[in-house]
Amino acid sequence: MRWLVTGGVGFIGTNLVDHLMQQGHDVVVLDDMSRGGVEANAGFLADRHGVQPALIDVADGAALGSFLAGQDPFDAIAHLAGQVSLLASIDDPMRDFQVNALGTLNVLEHVRLHSPGTVVMGMSSNKLYGDLSAVRIVEEPTRYVAPDWPRGFDESLPMDFHGPYGCSKGVADQYLGDYARTYGLRTASLRQSSVYGPHQHPRSDQGWVAHLLAEAVAGNPIQLNGVGKQVRDLLHATDLARLFERLAEATQPGAPLQVNVGGGPDRTLSILELFAWLEDRLGRPVEYATGPERPSDQKVFVSDNVSVSRATGWEPRVTVDEGLSALLDAAGEASAAQ
Ligand SMILES: NC(=O)c1ccc[n+]([C@@H]2O[C@H](COP(=O)([O-])OP(=O)(O)OC[C@H]3O[C@@H](n4cnc5c(N)ncnc54)[C@H](O)[C@@H]3O)[C@@H](O)[C@H]2O)c1
Repeated sequence: MRWLVTGGVGFIGTNLVDHLMQQGHDVVVLDDMSRGGVEANAGFLADRHGVQPALIDVADGAALGSFLAGQDPFDAIAHLAGQVSLLASIDDPMRDFQVNALGTLNVLEHVRLHSPGTVVMGMSSNKLYGDLSAVRIVEEPTRYVAPDWPRGFDESLPMDFHGPYGCSKGVADQYLGDYARTYGLRTASLRQSSVYGPHQHPRSDQGWVAHLLAEAVAGNPIQLNGVGKQVRDLLHATDLARLFERLAEATQPGAPLQVNVGGGPDRTLSILELFAWLEDRLGRPVEYATGPERPSDQKVFVSDNVSVSRATGWEPRVTVDEGLSALLDAAGEASAAQ
């Protein structure tokens, strides 16, 4: 198949492009390289697959349109280019909207007008469900749990966009759904929380597993938001890459797939549990201090993957222990190389 991956030298993009090229697909990569650290990913993809990203800002409809006009039609577009930080969205809500909401609309419009057979898959967020303050939460010694949702949250959860990032990701999700309903396109929107794996360049406000692991390995004291009992289900980026391939086959005209996607109830972890795992592996304590919670932070988010699994047959494979062990090995190699 012929693919376009926007945001293709980002963390998820690099894993996806690597996977697609290994499977023999023809892949075009687009990225504006605005994310710090992605030069290393671009170098990896150039060395391994000879891929060079086209430097385009998806918020610039004219530039995107003229780039796409020069391309043969794509069978599938994985639209991963995005403004990824809630805090950055609070600082600059206009730019956040332009990249996440308008950028998605720019892609959809091009497909509607010029290649309506192309599958468009976009990346949304668990943030479109708000802070989940109506969900009953129980505090246990190392984690919060949501006992009324033992299989995780499905898409019946009410939407409640919180923060500019939640709004822009929610808008993009709704446009992806509506372009399938109104124009008969083939679209999917993945509502995800925590993806982790290789090629991630974390910041304190995005990529919590990689960020906390790197700080702990470096022996730096860690300042937490909250008490560390927040729980997420971890989805390994290689599992997500396999899902895109399945979605490109499974998505039907006029029937949008707007689905929660995550590691599911078998792959959950709290921050305190990550620290306990690291202390066991590193053989020394992780130094941290608790602090005030972040605004709108969900105490628990775990995806019930039932909808996406039913539509595609996909299930995650990488266990939390396997994924964390690989990250820790890579972090050890990186610090030994310095
Ligand atoms: N990583 C996660 O846990 C997670 C969770 C939910 C949603 N998502 C979404 O998945 C997508 C990919 O996330 P990621 O973790 O790989 O982030 P990332 O920051 O590593 O990758 C995003 C890429 O998009 C590029 N980009 C940003 N703005 C752009 C623009 N205007 N035009 C073109 N390229 C642009 C960046 O340079 C970067 O390479 C994002 O849309 C993100 O919001 C990620």
